[in-house]
Amino acid sequence: AHVWQGVLREYADRLGVTESSTVVTLGEGGTPLLPAPALSRRTGADVWVKFEGMNPTGSFKDRGMTVALSRAVEHGAKAVICASTGNTSASAAAYAAHAGITAAVLVPEGKIAMGKLSQAVAHNGKLIQLRGNFDDCLEIARELAERYPVHLVNSVNPDRIEGQKTAAYEVVEQLGDAPDFHFIPVGNAGNYTAYTRGYREEAERGVSTRIPRMFGFQAAGSAPLVRGEVVKNPETIATAIRIGNPASWNLALEARDATNGWFGAVEDDRILAAQKILAGEVGIFVEPGSAASVAGLLDRAEAGVIPAGSRVVLTVTGHGLKDPQWGLRQTDGTTAEPIVVDAVTTEVASVLDLA
Ligand code: F0G
Repeated sequence: AHVWQGVLREYADRLGVTESSTVVTLGEGGTPLLPAPALSRRTGADVWVKFEGMNPTGSFKDRGMTVALSRAVEHGAKAVICASTGNTSASAAAYAAHAGITAAVLVPEGKIAMGKLSQAVAHNGKLIQLRGNFDDCLEIARELAERYPVHLVNSVNPDRIEGQKTAAYEVVEQLGDAPDFHFIPVGNAGNYTAYTRGYREEAERGVSTRIPRMFGFQAAGSAPLVRGEVVKNPETIATAIRIGNPASWNLALEARDATNGWFGAVEDDRILAAQKILAGEVGIFVEPGSAASVAGLLDRAEAGVIPAGSRVVLTVTGHGLKDPQWGLRQTDGTTAEPIVVDAVTTEVASVLDLA
């Protein structure tokens, strides 16, 4: 059996890694691609889910962070910095801890999920909450990296995109070819850009016969790519993608045009409904931001733009345990109250309708 060694070692030739390269890894990548019959039934397509919540810190960010931290350490950095809606900060703090250096993370006050906040603190990140949104955090992180000896590890750092493109390599290997459509949640559009690059490389190498149409989805209250302008006060319960001024805007438009792709917006209630279907009927629990890809597929299938039998891959970017409160939310908006009974077998049997 092959023991997975993390993306830098697995794809050493593709990522320019040699014997003498520094490798900071927590074993990221190699995530499952799972069939989703409940979604295939609803859409008439052949739907697969790339479950990126299975990465070491619970999100796809780890694929890019292994590259960014390895290069930072190689260049002698003693500290890295990032702005984050939560997952990047969790990942940066974990990889920095593993490398024995410091991670400073800037997050919007009160607007990141508890699991992510907890991770950043647990991994000894220097966490600072800013009175502002993600876009403000990124501006300040960039300025700090310009003026002070601290290495920026947001996806404006090309090392991040390089690492993240490996997810597309894996999809091609897992399916035997690229899919017809790829759906993905979009915030800064770094991951959208990364998958497009990975798929292009596989087609150029002759490993795949096509490049999928890249369909990116933003939350309706923070959909600058759909509206074609910066959103000053982005709002959505999907805090991971609460971004009004995407850092990879131009790269994303280029990727969309090159793949005959599309950017769409989905309302928060549709994101939550999609999250529920994925958890309850496919067995994959993701955070709300990740469910934007699922909601996007349902939206486009309803619009009739997904031909029957199309092969579709959805990236779900972060684990549901990051932001677990949403799992308890019922369709009517109330919070599920687990049933309590006395510790008596017959009582349990009766509640379960077994007797
Ligand atoms: N899904 C999740 C769970 C995310 O955390 C993010 C981004 C995205 C999707 C969007 O990816 O920015 O490459 O388009 N999170 C960043 C962060 C902004 O700070 O954790 P993108």
